[in-house]
Amino acid sequence: MALLEQILAEIRARGPITFARYMHLCLYHPELGYYRAPRERFGAAGDFYTSAQVHPAFARLLVRRWAGMWQALGGGPFTLLEMGAGRGELARQAQDWAARAYPEFARSLRYIALEYGDPLPAPFSGCVFSNEFFDAQPVHVLRLQSGKLCEMYVAERGGQLAWARGRLSSPELAGWLDRLHIQPEDGQTIELSLEAAAWMPTLGRLLARGWVLTFDYGYRAREISGGRRFFDGSLMSYRKHTASEEVLRDPGQRDLTAHVNFDLLAEAGREAGLVESRFCSQARCLMDLGQADQFSEVFAGCRTEADHVKARLLLKTLLFDLGETIQVLEQRAMSDE
Ligand SMILES: C[S@@+](CC[C@H](N)C(=O)[O-])C[C@H]1O[C@@H](n2cnc3c(N)ncnc32)[C@H](O)[C@@H]1O
Repeated sequence: MALLEQILAEIRARGPITFARYMHLCLYHPELGYYRAPRERFGAAGDFYTSAQVHPAFARLLVRRWAGMWQALGGGPFTLLEMGAGRGELARQAQDWAARAYPEFARSLRYIALEYGDPLPAPFSGCVFSNEFFDAQPVHVLRLQSGKLCEMYVAERGGQLAWARGRLSSPELAGWLDRLHIQPEDGQTIELSLEAAAWMPTLGRLLARGWVLTFDYGYRAREISGGRRFFDGSLMSYRKHTASEEVLRDPGQRDLTAHVNFDLLAEAGREAGLVESRFCSQARCLMDLGQADQFSEVFAGCRTEADHVKARLLLKTLLFDLGETIQVLEQRAMSDE
């Protein structure tokens, strides 16, 4: 049975489902979910590019940051847990580069590329890294309608999926809006990911010493409060490099994302002993890593002028295209203070 039929059957049996449940089925249904079914998702033949596919420069600059963390922790065994490693390009590029450019660090490095369903390791010292992991976590969709906070559900209308308004499915949702001081404007749509928040206590327990380093599309809570940004929310679907706001179309056939609320991660992290130590754009973060020696690591291995031109162009994409929209949050394990 196609995923649409399964979702319709669930709605017929139990009534409208939260968008978080719908997004979970669309992305992670064991056989038919977008990230579980065999298909090409990344790169030219797929639906989207991430920084890891743009150029190995991304991995090389990150290795510099991780080697710095390893030194700051005293140079012992260092575990790098990459959450949502996808096709594993970053894992391969980073380990190759570490072996070549930072051999001592490479000898201390245990790199774990975690994908959906993989078991988590035992607690470790090092870094929990992710790129575009949290924007793939299911979100609840809230709306302030005529002064009343409602939740938007996925329902059936004429054999098709359709939005329906209802009561909040969990008091936690209103609780988070209060804690993050988000005051929606009337008519505004706001996404909240309880699943993203729930990762923080897990990561807090996993990380004995070190950092959580998160790269993702996102915003701070104050940016959306009062309807300043993302008045209609930030939900998007991606297919064949085309973005669409039609998130109820072709369930399981498209990637679904919502921008990450970095205050939700920071606040849930703080409770779990992870203290925000830096927040900046990807551009700023990569500039700080590469600028001192004019990005020499990016151009290592370029033999011809054409190689240099290509590397320069792709570095610009990492810095000024993805670089301005992707944000970076660093959180430090408090036990490390
Ligand atoms: C947008 S992709 C990003 C992939 C990769 N990080 C990159 O930058 O190319 C999100 C990835 O997160 C993975 N993912 C989502 N939830 C996960 C979970 N609970 N555990 C492990 N991986 C998960 C998905 O399967 C998917 O591969």
